[in-house]
Amino acid sequence: MPRVALVTGGSRGIGAAISKALKAEGFGVAATYAGNDDAARAFTEETGIKTFKWDVASYEDCAKGIAQVEAELGPIDVLVNNAGITRDKPFHKMAPEDWNAVINTNLTGLFNMTHNVWGGMRERKFGRVINISSINGQKGQFAQANYSAAKAGDLGFTKALAQEGARAGITVNAVCPGYIATEMVMAVPEKVRNDVILPQIPVGRLGEPEEIARCVAFLASDDAGFITGSTISANGGQYMA
Ligand code: CAA
Repeated sequence: MPRVALVTGGSRGIGAAISKALKAEGFGVAATYAGNDDAARAFTEETGIKTFKWDVASYEDCAKGIAQVEAELGPIDVLVNNAGITRDKPFHKMAPEDWNAVINTNLTGLFNMTHNVWGGMRERKFGRVINISSINGQKGQFAQANYSAAKAGDLGFTKALAQEGARAGITVNAVCPGYIATEMVMAVPEKVRNDVILPQIPVGRLGEPEEIARCVAFLASDDAGFITGSTISANGGQYMA
């Protein structure tokens, strides 16, 4: 039986590249998505990877959804917490809803997902939890008090849980992408992207989703068994943590 990997937000952007990379490595892969049915359908048609719709911000939906994935594919060995949203606004314009939406998805979503696979991983004495944080959780970002707080929280979560998982054969690591050519980054005004962001990237270009997916595939592999609580930064030299 192949190992089973579940990728949240796994039908678009960085998540889609991760789902495909894990499938290419021989994992049985399931991808979650929150809202875009058309993109999910197209992704499944293209890749053969099954998608499941639920909101990672809901603990109950995660419990139900994970039970369904496990009934169809088998116990989850690898969890990639990738689902994330932005609500970028300077702090004086940021509404409580902007704060709550981002914290609930990008930080609490990790609790909701991981808590529902943790017991099984402990019982089976194997697991890989890979959290997609961000350069902006490491360095902070103008107009992202919510996002930077959540992504920094993801790193604390990673390091705490790594200590708990170690004896049970579970590794917990984080990847911090820099600015990657996805819809999320393309939503930043073009002028800001070209005049502010690009000049800050020493390699002189945005990253590709596949460059993040390869980091995740490595962390999911048996070769990475001694790596836990760590953060891989893949940002073209923009920030050296
Ligand atoms: N540092 C300092 N000042 C900045 C700034 C920065 N990085 N970015 C913008 N400003 C300034 C502008 O120069 C402008 O100043 P003036 O008013 O003096 O001209 C002011 O802030 C803009 O203020 P506004 O009230 O007009 O801002 P707005 O409400 O229109 O919001 C914005 C604009 C949301 C900040 C927009 O500029 C933006 O999206 N910036 C990019 C934010 C960003 O990098 N987000 C990351 C998205 S990708 C991602 O999150 C993935 C990942 O993990 C990397």
